[in-house]
Amino acid sequence: MEEDLTSYPENIIKFAKDPKHFGRMTDPTSAACIKGPCGDEMEVYLVISDRVIKNIKFYTKGCIATVVCGSAVAQLASGRSVDEALGISPKQVIDMLNGLPEDRCHCSILAVSTLHRAIADYLLKK
Ligand code: FES
Repeated sequence: MEEDLTSYPENIIKFAKDPKHFGRMTDPTSAACIKGPCGDEMEVYLVISDRVIKNIKFYTKGCIATVVCGSAVAQLASGRSVDEALGISPKQVIDMLNGLPEDRCHCSILAVSTLHRAIADYLLKK
């Protein structure tokens, strides 16, 4: 069953209508996929050059909050160095979205954790 967008606050609906960086990549520098305890999965794909994130995509079939968190993480990480991106926190994601329903705050943790694991994939391959 498709999730009811109108059950979310207006700030989330705004992000959900145009989730920037949504999609998969066929030839990333590094990538990661994590399944959260709720069953939602997040995938993050990175193109990194000279330790800078040149391109980032995320993919999920999870709830609307998962989608907007993935998009917020991607927007925060895009163009940043890997060191800066490792400093991105779930709180920054929630602040960028102007808040999340309390029962969806873990979606921001899933998105940030997946970004960090994708960066680790890059750093450990070097
Ligand atoms: Fe679990 Fe979104 S509901 S990650």
